[in-house]
Amino acid sequence: MTSSKYPYVLSTQFLMLSIDIFFNALSVLCYGNNMTLLMIYILQDTLLIMSALVLFVSFTATFVFQLGLIHIVIIQFLPTIIISIFYVFVSIGWHYASLSSTWEDQTINIFMQTPLEIFYIFHKVIACIFYSYYKRTALQISDPKYNSDSAWLRELFIKHMNEKAAKLEARAAAASSKMHDTKNPSQNFQVEIRLNQKFPKSTVQTRLPEFEEFIKTHATNARNWKPIVVKSEESPASVTELFEKLVIGTCHLKDGDKLSNLLDEFSINPSNIHVYKLHKDGPLSQNIGEDDNEDSIVGSQLWQLPCVEFDSIWENLIYDSNLKNEIMSYVSALVSLSEKHVNTTIINVNRLILLTGPPGTGKTSLCKGLAQHLSISMNDRYPKSVMMEINSHSLFSKWFSESGKLIQKMFDQIDELAEDDKCMVFVLIDEVESLGMCRESSSSRSEPSDAIRAVNALLTQIDRIRRNSNVLIMCTSNLENSLDRALVDRADIVRNVGEPSDFARYAILKACIQELARIGKVIVDDEVPMPQDIVNTEDCRNSSTETLFHIAQEARGLSARAISMLPTLVYANSLGQDLSVIHCMDLFRDAVHERLSRHTN
Ligand SMILES: Nc1ncnc2c1ncn2[C@@H]1O[C@H](COP(=O)(O)OP(=O)(O)OP(=O)(O)O)[C@@H](O)[C@H]1O
Ligand SMILES: [Mg+2]
Repeated sequence: MTSSKYPYVLSTQFLMLSIDIFFNALSVLCYGNNMTLLMIYILQDTLLIMSALVLFVSFTATFVFQLGLIHIVIIQFLPTIIISIFYVFVSIGWHYASLSSTWEDQTINIFMQTPLEIFYIFHKVIACIFYSYYKRTALQISDPKYNSDSAWLRELFIKHMNEKAAKLEARAAAASSKMHDTKNPSQNFQVEIRLNQKFPKSTVQTRLPEFEEFIKTHATNARNWKPIVVKSEESPASVTELFEKLVIGTCHLKDGDKLSNLLDEFSINPSNIHVYKLHKDGPLSQNIGEDDNEDSIVGSQLWQLPCVEFDSIWENLIYDSNLKNEIMSYVSALVSLSEKHVNTTIINVNRLILLTGPPGTGKTSLCKGLAQHLSISMNDRYPKSVMMEINSHSLFSKWFSESGKLIQKMFDQIDELAEDDKCMVFVLIDEVESLGMCRESSSSRSEPSDAIRAVNALLTQIDRIRRNSNVLIMCTSNLENSLDRALVDRADIVRNVGEPSDFARYAILKACIQELARIGKVIVDDEVPMPQDIVNTEDCRNSSTETLFHIAQEARGLSARAISMLPTLVYANSLGQDLSVIHCMDLFRDAVHERLSRHTN
């Protein structure tokens, strides 16, 4: 409350107090005249309620209260609040009792009836206590410590906010430990059902028990986050005709782990089942610059998610560590934390992730796969998802002198998309170094100040966009060290996606052979089995596993991208013949050597 208003409120409070004392005295003089008494009582009770209200208003008008430290005001003035409410009730009660006992016969003296006499004394005692508290509170509340900024108040405020943050953190920790309940991971299974285009989504909701039964009995070979292979002869057509793809998974099991022994405890509920259909329209090119300007360039591509183009990216990315699950649960936590509208001055959530690492390690693919996956698993909350893939390199090179302005325009487009709070907006800034190059090195290399302006614009726009809880920015870079520190600092997650290890290369090679077998290029016979899954060298028990592991070791130095390009070479070198597993692996070895020789030349 401002000090100029306070004297008026204080005077009003004292005035009401005096009127109440006056009415109490006056009523004694009017005993025997019930009609006058009734008028006095009505007036007195009304004023009493009003004075309680004035007190309440003066509490809410204090600076402390307005800062959100309501509990401080309540604790400090609790006795006054209680006594005021109590006195209002006692007064009304006393007025009713005294009037009703003398209404019929005005000659009755209330002081001749013991219960009424006790009530009278009780009322007057409570009145005295009320006057004392009321006066004290009215004076106390005028104390500047309640009405202006002070070190005491700041200390209280910080303590309060810390307590609030601790509570939020504890809640988040409880939620995350629930999510990572390793004792019963089956509780956290997510089921992704890609519905056959001709069925509406509601079909699945009505047939959940059938789906549960189907998953339990037909998914015995299912692996974490890998699509369930349905053998048509073993599966009921009534269920299989409903979906095109079925994936079950949980973030706290490693990618590709077997799920069979957890399926007994598995149960479907509507919150862990995500039904979706793929968008097939392809990306929409978004121009930047003036619409009619022939110089305007494609600043970004806009994808409706989930889309055909990003299908299977996620499950085909192979890493040694649990990178995919970690990133996914972290990003889900980021989004859900932002949704809780946490105080961003305390808990800083930018919803910005940065993936760094050498070329061809799957950074861009990981971002696309992540967006696709999240668009499916969050489709209850966000029925619509889009991904804006920013063409940062061409944007910066072509419009070098205006990059700052263009970055702002680009973010305006993002802002526009994010206005729809039912739409999740993923923003992919690939090769972010072209926009976010370190400002110090740019200036020391005496590059034009536009490079600096571009970084500044990017940073301010990231800060601006963070107020939208439905925007997630994903950046990738090959050159983490040359990125501006302020940009790296803003990222909630910075992950280095390193070169694949022998085991990851093995897994990628195995997936390539499996794919060739699926299309009928590789014929599997009983003598030479397919390479099996391995997690350490002791697993290399059968001969083809051992051979492939040696090839994976020989392929050291090849990126994951280079390895995933080998099947084309193998296919070309097979001269149109179908291949046995052993022959196929020989061709893979040759392809590895050919590719490596390209590196050394
Ligand atoms: N870990 C991986 N597992 C399987 N395939 C991979 C992996 N990493 C990359 N690939 C393959 O390499 C291709 C290219 O990957 P991507 O473009 O995502 O790499 P990048 O890290 O963004 O590279 P750059 O830094 O050159 O942009 C992918 O389409 C995928 O087939
Ligand atoms: Mg890339």
